[in-house]
Amino acid sequence: MSEDKRSEFDRIADKIQQQIIEDEKKIFSAKVIVEYNNPHNIYRMVDFDSHSVLTGSCGDTMEFYIRLKGDTVSDLSFMTDGCGATVACGSILTRMVEGVTIEEARKVTSSDLIETLEGLPDENLHCANLAVNALRTALNGCEGGA
Ligand code: FES
Repeated sequence: MSEDKRSEFDRIADKIQQQIIEDEKKIFSAKVIVEYNNPHNIYRMVDFDSHSVLTGSCGDTMEFYIRLKGDTVSDLSFMTDGCGATVACGSILTRMVEGVTIEEARKVTSSDLIETLEGLPDENLHCANLAVNALRTALNGCEGGA
């Protein structure tokens, strides 16, 4: 590809990228966009105490991994093949419950999660449910936690 064609290609790619960003801003809160562009704790933990795999109503799957220190959730990670909103949900959720007891972690609701994310579009509310349900399933698998 010649230099002229490459720079024209780059310009078009930049324009498309900019349009995508502008479209995202119309749909998602700034917090959701930041979170799914830079997610935390998204990996498959090897040395875990409890693990869950849950498939949501949309057919996407979410996994949660929990490591405990006594009855405290000391470490969490998640993995998903779901949408960007689900990535944002998993990322925020791991940080919402890190360092709290199993019982406290169980009390986190999808409304809490949505509020922390400064809202989700109606069509993505199920993504928050999937994340919270996957977390609760993993919490139920913690020793003495069921
Ligand atoms: Fe399937 Fe978000 S988890 S669309």
